[in-house]
Amino acid sequence: GTTLGASAAEKGRYFGVAIAAGRLSDSTYSTIARTEFNSIVAENEMKWDATEPQQGQFNFTNADRIANFAATNGKLLRGHALLWHAQQPGWAQNLSGTALRNAAINHVTRVATQYRGKIHSWDVVNEAFADGSGGGRRDSNLQRTGNDWIEAAFRAARAADPGAKLCYNDYNTDGINAKSTGIYNMVRDFKARGVPIDCVGLQSHLGTSLDSTYQQNIQRFADLGVDVQITELDVQQGNNQANIFASVTRACLAVARCTGITVWGVRDSDSWRTGQNPLLFDASGNKKAAYTSVLNALNAG
Ligand code: G3I
Repeated sequence: GTTLGASAAEKGRYFGVAIAAGRLSDSTYSTIARTEFNSIVAENEMKWDATEPQQGQFNFTNADRIANFAATNGKLLRGHALLWHAQQPGWAQNLSGTALRNAAINHVTRVATQYRGKIHSWDVVNEAFADGSGGGRRDSNLQRTGNDWIEAAFRAARAADPGAKLCYNDYNTDGINAKSTGIYNMVRDFKARGVPIDCVGLQSHLGTSLDSTYQQNIQRFADLGVDVQITELDVQQGNNQANIFASVTRACLAVARCTGITVWGVRDSDSWRTGQNPLLFDASGNKKAAYTSVLNALNAG
């Protein structure tokens, strides 16, 4: 193939990008998004603060701009993210206990219902595990409603949109470590007890080197019987950037259940990592060496 999306499709996978609705009127940006990628995800527009700014009052205006861009251009659509400790609307930040649990489950149900049949994979719960060596849950208002909040969210999402793959998504899971093992143990438990989970998202916000167990980590999740998706890939600029992008691509292609890769923005100037130039296109929209290395990795073999 001659584009990332077409080349990934030849390998039975997708290659996606995070889109900001406010940038779609920039034709350099939207042309790259349309041409190169076959899946998109909203960078912010489907989050809780964006979709339910007041309790029970849902606003899908900006989320629909992303969904309509996908539909109009024939792109797959990922959903990000139904529940997260960050980017909660103020009213939710101020709730706790049963009131928060009920509001959270209602949120999952309403948003997943709104996009039923349109989303190939939902990040149902985002970033619920703590960093560091403990391997346990992150403290948050959601966690304080009870350890079963994650499975309750997955059950609600399944009921609302039975066709979507339901993912748990997190960062600092770029190899076999305490955090990724904590998640691994949760997924194994969910599979054993019939909690509906279909995929794990490895965000992959990477620095200037890649963990030597990156592929092994993908493989161990796949061996649990879930798909793996690389969901927010970006790599700090440095001598090794192109190699790291290629290594991640090869690692995904090497695992049958690694079904797609999403980069977290179009151009370096669109990235949340200001000054790190972590993406595949430069600020002018030119293809970087990292782009070419990913394309070649997708087309190898
Ligand atoms: O839209 C407002 C604007 O009106 C206001 O003037 C401005 C002032 O701060 O803020 C703008 O909102 C910002 C929004 O991005 C849109 O640009 C928020 O402040 C800012 O916090 C928000 O950052 C997003 C971040 O999540 C929030 O946690 C980033 O764009 C987004 O890339 C980032 O994405 C996350 C994933 O969802 C989860 N994994 C980590 C990843 C990187 O942090």
